[in-house]
Amino acid sequence: MGLVRGRDAGAAPGVTCESGGQCLKVETTGRVDCTVVRYAIGSDHAGRYLKDLLGEHLVALGHEVVDLGTNSDEPVDYPDFGAAVGRAVMAGDADFGLCVCGTGIGIAIAANKIRGVRAAVVHDVSSARLAREHNDANIICFGGRLISSVVATDALDAFLATSFGGGRHIPRLAKIAQLEESW
Ligand code: RB5
Repeated sequence: MGLVRGRDAGAAPGVTCESGGQCLKVETTGRVDCTVVRYAIGSDHAGRYLKDLLGEHLVALGHEVVDLGTNSDEPVDYPDFGAAVGRAVMAGDADFGLCVCGTGIGIAIAANKIRGVRAAVVHDVSSARLAREHNDANIICFGGRLISSVVATDALDAFLATSFGGGRHIPRLAKIAQLEESW
């Protein structure tokens, strides 16, 4: 979708930001204008703490967050939440998704079963940046039992700030999309 969080002076709804993203909505928050990105977030019990923390971080940045759960410490099945986030993104109810389970792996596998989802397990700033730049990832996934909240927050910021690079990556993503039709 090519959406970015931006602070471009000329940003306006429907206008391409200087950073290359398509501006959805601009809100004046004090001294700066921010492009609001809608995030659907979800986790199992093992990812709940980090999911809540990163959700609060997104809200503090001025973004819209839809929390699809889980919201208790009772053990739940991560595929239910990965699928819910994937469906929200593909239905257009959210621009991006954020998923957390113990490792990030199971919930990413589940989300990637939804047609059109490109969910990436991210471990640091570099993998988060490259997930957007090369893979146009539309869901960022974390391992709540593996990553510190500081590293995860920095990685999420990098994900927000990075646009898809286009160019040579476009036909590669087209091949991935073809796999969804032809396996
Ligand atoms: C739950 O114990 C754990 O298996 C789950 O959070 C996740 O790590 C699976 O990939």
